[in-house]
Amino acid sequence: MGRLWGAAGAALGLALLLLSPARAVEPVSLGLALAGAASALTGYISYRPLYCLFAECCGPRPGRHFGAVLQQDLEKRLFGQHLAQKVIVKAVTGFLSNANPKKPLALSMHGWTGTGKNYASKIIVENIYKSGLNSRYVHQFVSTLHFPHASLIRQYTDDLQSWIRGNVSDCARSIFIFDEMDKMHAGLIDSIKPFLDYYEQLDGVSYRQAIFIFLSNAGAEKITEVALDYWRNGKKREDIGLKELNDVVSLSVFNNKNSGFWHSSLIDRNLIDFFVPFLPLEYKHVKMCVRVELESRGYIVDEDIVSEVADEMTYFPKEEKIYCHKGCKTVYTKLDYYYDL
Ligand SMILES: *[C@@H]1O[C@H](CO)[C@@H](O)[C@H](O)[C@H]1NC(C)=O
Repeated sequence: MGRLWGAAGAALGLALLLLSPARAVEPVSLGLALAGAASALTGYISYRPLYCLFAECCGPRPGRHFGAVLQQDLEKRLFGQHLAQKVIVKAVTGFLSNANPKKPLALSMHGWTGTGKNYASKIIVENIYKSGLNSRYVHQFVSTLHFPHASLIRQYTDDLQSWIRGNVSDCARSIFIFDEMDKMHAGLIDSIKPFLDYYEQLDGVSYRQAIFIFLSNAGAEKITEVALDYWRNGKKREDIGLKELNDVVSLSVFNNKNSGFWHSSLIDRNLIDFFVPFLPLEYKHVKMCVRVELESRGYIVDEDIVSEVADEMTYFPKEEKIYCHKGCKTVYTKLDYYYDL
């Protein structure tokens, strides 16, 4: 039945196209007719590549240069995060190029607010789905926003499980982002666990193509300690190794009763594939954020304003004032002040 309609739609779309005198075809209706014809046609012959030129598709195949483009994108827009950059490129590229992963990809991003966790997730998602966070295949949950009441945890658990199941049934390459993991109820974290595991399928649905990204502040203090230690010893930040941070982060997340993860068995069952540490941002990184934001708003970069905005931020620790409290987070509102006068 659907195919019949599809064929009819295709015929109609094509007829519209062919019958309209060339001058009368506005770009919009031409686009509509084309898209209509294309989507109808694909309903009929299931010709995915053509369809995906016109509409967003579930799980597009990564292009040949996916890894390089992702890397470039991260280098251009995410500052001061050599480790996160490296881990993300490796993890995501490796996962997408594996036709038969044994489990979904689970990334856990750790660091202070404003260090770029949300930004990095956004970049990942945009490299997979053109419409990024707005894609119908991308789902973002913020603990304090979506699951605020401890008394409703049963309801949340049911909802969340059915959403994950429903969306992955629709599109195997669904992406789920959980923000504020450290504020998430332990029971709720546990309810996600089965989806992250090595099952071939659960109730007929396979979750192995899905991507889960967890964001939290857990471990941020430890990360800062390590960074500060390097700084005080005159060592380069870029020399901080992944293993070193992994160890301190896992330890602190594991042992910290407040971090949420602690209760859950995400970690001790190895359901998290990659820890992605985000270092605290320095003055020079804040300036980089300001420049990029100015450029993206179409302004010529004025170094006086760049410094002024960076100077307005507060830095810690008290004596040395190296790292920005808010990272790049409030740069945007500060800029509004300068430019909307
Ligand atoms: C997919 O997830 C969203 C929440 O992001 C939810 O509202 C929707 O009902 C889910 N879809 C299915 C088919 O479960």
